[in-house]
Amino acid sequence: MKIKSAEFVISNTDYTKCPVTKEPEYAFIGRSNVGKSSLINMLTDRTKLAKTSGKPGKTQLINHFHINKEWYLVDLPGYGWAQVSKKLKEEWSVMIKQYLLQRENLVNIFVLIDSRIPPQKIDLEFIQWVGENGLPISIIFTKADKTGNRKIITNIANFKNTLKKTWDQLPPSFVSSSAQKIGQDEILGYIDQINSK
Ligand code: GTP
Ligand code: MG
Repeated sequence: MKIKSAEFVISNTDYTKCPVTKEPEYAFIGRSNVGKSSLINMLTDRTKLAKTSGKPGKTQLINHFHINKEWYLVDLPGYGWAQVSKKLKEEWSVMIKQYLLQRENLVNIFVLIDSRIPPQKIDLEFIQWVGENGLPISIIFTKADKTGNRKIITNIANFKNTLKKTWDQLPPSFVSSSAQKIGQDEILGYIDQINSK
């Protein structure tokens, strides 16, 4: 798929204020700093569409980007960031979960997992929550700058094996590196496939 246009539309704290549309929408979620905003930039061939940072906690709102004037990418705040007060964490969690549960045109949730580290409890719990709520999910293993790296291969295999214990059929998964531009064709191809259904 060719990205002809990618425009920032609006930031929200409340899912009810998100754009009124029936166009398909794809959300990116995962731990703070896992690379959600960087991935949105990589997919759209833009450098500053979504704001990125070396410090966790950069994205704090629900951000809508309109792509090719036909569908939306949504950048969400990360979970699991220690340097946030309990109250704020709770507010973010409610905001994200309400959005994910209530947004009618949301056709897929991409859950991003850092391929450089072993499976994390917080990610497995979040994926479990998505599954229990019957929401459409796929997984993206991020920061795979060297896809042949043995540690990365092992981490991804371990993650999938852990999921297999509770999932009859694993969700679709992708491997990406925003730094090395890996995974763009596969992820955009998957979006294209869903869009044309
Ligand atoms: P929050 O908005 O804070 O939740 O973070 P985020 O998930 O949006 O992460 P963001 O895209 O801001 O990236 C966090 C850090 O990871 C930045 O320093 C990025 O440069 C770095 N990063 C993102 N993608 C990659 C990647 O593919 N490879 C490497 N090596 N670093 C990456
Ligand atoms: Mg971000």
